Amino acid sequence: MIFKFKESKIFYTIQGSGNAVVLLHGFLENASMWDFFLPTLIKNHLVITIDLLGHGKTDSLGYVHTMELMAEMVQEIISKEKINKATFIGHSMGGYVALAFAEKYPERMNALVLLNSTSEADSTEKKENRDRAIQLVKQNKKGFLSMAISNLFAEQNRLIYKKEIHQLKKEALEFPIQGIVATLEGMKIRKDRTSILKNLLIPKYIITGIQDPIMPFLQQKKLTKKCGCSFIELSGGHMSTIENKEEMLNFVHFIE
Ligand code: MLT
Repeated sequence: MIFKFKESKIFYTIQGSGNAVVLLHGFLENASMWDFFLPTLIKNHLVITIDLLGHGKTDSLGYVHTMELMAEMVQEIISKEKINKATFIGHSMGGYVALAFAEKYPERMNALVLLNSTSEADSTEKKENRDRAIQLVKQNKKGFLSMAISNLFAEQNRLIYKKEIHQLKKEALEFPIQGIVATLEGMKIRKDRTSILKNLLIPKYIITGIQDPIMPFLQQKKLTKKCGCSFIELSGGHMSTIENKEEMLNFVHFIE
């Protein structure tokens, strides 16, 4: 489906029936990352997948894709579909967007799953890395994507999932440079939403890969305790939907 949001074309899918589930992908991914889980999920749920700004078949919008802007876009889509409440599963950046949504519309969330994601803001070092990444994308998009996407996987998995990594890179190569830069800018300035997560009175989960190179495992464990989330640890890296497919499939079976 195509939806117009502030003059930008937004692509999303809606399938199944039952309690609503919104699936939000991470940086450099797109809605197709959920394809493996959809046949199971749509048996008992109404499932929405969305290509976030500058990703997949969705346009970019301005120079900074803030998490708040993307959360507003999600809100407009679910309102258009007359969905009052939904469970949100956000992978990495998708989790940042889900938290921005939770801050503004907590009454519209049934449950929240932060998959390889965090409520914390970027550290100073991470912000500097974002600036370096922005320069690199502008100079050498292909080189940047190649490095950034490989680095999402646990080291020993990079060979095992060579085909999937190649496919992710191929799809990301289609994303406009402006969209990638605007998204890096948006992630860099996102605020810390740990207190939002802590105060959310709904079922909430943090799913983390023990070898996640982006979200350090011990930091995730600490955050889980601080926020009263349920914690699920998986054996792989940042790309749990690829590196831990079976465990993820078992998890989606339990979504209400
Ligand atoms: C993602 O997978 O969405 C990104 O790695 C998140 C980030 O860079 O903070």
